[in-house]
Amino acid sequence: MSKWVKLCTAAEAPLDEQVGEFTVEGVDVCLAHHDGEYFAMGNWCPHKKASLGLGWMEGETVVCPKHAWAIDCETGKVQKPEKGCVPTYRTQVRNGDVYIYLEA
Ligand code: FES
Repeated sequence: MSKWVKLCTAAEAPLDEQVGEFTVEGVDVCLAHHDGEYFAMGNWCPHKKASLGLGWMEGETVVCPKHAWAIDCETGKVQKPEKGCVPTYRTQVRNGDVYIYLEA
């Protein structure tokens, strides 16, 4: 069943231009905070499965901490010249807490 689930509290959420890693309902998520908005994507880099939530923001991309592939925080697409993508999730903030929408 598709539903909104709470990913983290306001206190746990990454500060602006930072990222964090979270797990909710068995789904590993990288949460990026960019320009005052939250963007959620699958946490595992499509290259060699490093944790994107341990990476950093560079413009509108999350940069993988292992070999620095850059992934668009909105679309989940790996930036050229590399290829690949990670799933993305809609986000919503309620009382400062961050929720993501999990599709069934
Ligand atoms: S594991 Fe992410 S760039 Fe290599």
